[in-house]
Amino acid sequence: MHTAIISGTGRYSPEKVLTNADFERIVDTSDEWIVTRTGIRERHVLNGSGGFSGSDMATSAARVALADAKLAPTDLDAIIIATVTPDYRLPATATIVQHNLGAGKTAVMDLVAACAGFIYGLSVARAFIVSGMYRNVLVVGVEHLTSITNYADRNTCVLFGDGAGAVIVSRGTSEDSESGILSTFLAGDGQYKDLLHIPLGGSKVPLTPETANDPGRFIYMDGREVFKLAVKEMADASERVLAEAGVSPEQIDMVIPHQANSRIIEALTKRLRVDPSHVYKNIERYGNTSSASVPIALDEARRAGVVRKGSTILSVAFGGGLTWGAALYRL
Ligand code: UT7
Repeated sequence: MHTAIISGTGRYSPEKVLTNADFERIVDTSDEWIVTRTGIRERHVLNGSGGFSGSDMATSAARVALADAKLAPTDLDAIIIATVTPDYRLPATATIVQHNLGAGKTAVMDLVAACAGFIYGLSVARAFIVSGMYRNVLVVGVEHLTSITNYADRNTCVLFGDGAGAVIVSRGTSEDSESGILSTFLAGDGQYKDLLHIPLGGSKVPLTPETANDPGRFIYMDGREVFKLAVKEMADASERVLAEAGVSPEQIDMVIPHQANSRIIEALTKRLRVDPSHVYKNIERYGNTSSASVPIALDEARRAGVVRKGSTILSVAFGGGLTWGAALYRL
């Protein structure tokens, strides 16, 4: 068994920003409602940000993570891209990122687990490393959520942003025996698939000329139901990874959770009995970027010195599927 360590992190956010004031001009909403109900003040959006696509954002974040890990693209063995907004339905965005990076003939795959996608990717990468199959795996959470957002639906449009976060998961040396990914937990429950989904445009119900402008091609969410399940399952997943690793909540240096709603994060903080000063929040500036939210927050926290070598971190996420998961790791 090898140790799987996080050897580098990176992120990319589009330059263009939409503020709550911008949304007051688009739908019937207010800065006050958005801030009190979600904690969001602004979000980065790809459209109008220089013709970039999801694979470009992922490539940019990956380059930063590779430099941080002091690795060349050709050192990678596998590339996992967690996304629900791939550039194309075929091929996988991972193939485009591989080519952009010049990473050679690595294994390439996209992983669809919505907002929990990065935690899923981290867990798969860990399994590749621990088993001895690979030495360096790139995991990117990247979303172009604004491409599937209905800007006529105030229930959802104010929530989402675009971006990418990347980590390199590597085989540790004997010096890393105290660090690395300590435990992960993944779960899902398909009975709730309709609470957060895109009804139209897949192979089951393809878009036709008649439905080309139907709002069913965008994200639908029953926010209230998702909220309740999110708090319950994120707390459960967190408790499971802590128990598996034999770590108590007081030993967590920082919880870096999925940034979907400040109130979800606050409820989770209470349930875990963690001091709020040990919980990282950046939702105010990014909104919900789905699979990109945890790795963006992790990279930001590292570069700000909020977490550092030796920090014990709990990351937990929840999203469409429904899917959820948690990871406990030490830098
Ligand atoms: O990342 C994947 C997982 N996603 C989540 O975890 C998100 C979970 N859900 C949430 O974060 C929250 O449910 C939302 C932020 C989406 C909504 O907050 P809420 O407190 O659950 O509001 P609600 O849906 O119960 O709506 C309350 C009221 C409604 O009006 P009525 O029916 O009480 O008259 C909505 O129409 O707020 C209204 N509303 C708005 N008002 C102003 C909904 N969106 C808006 C808006 N501006 N943007």
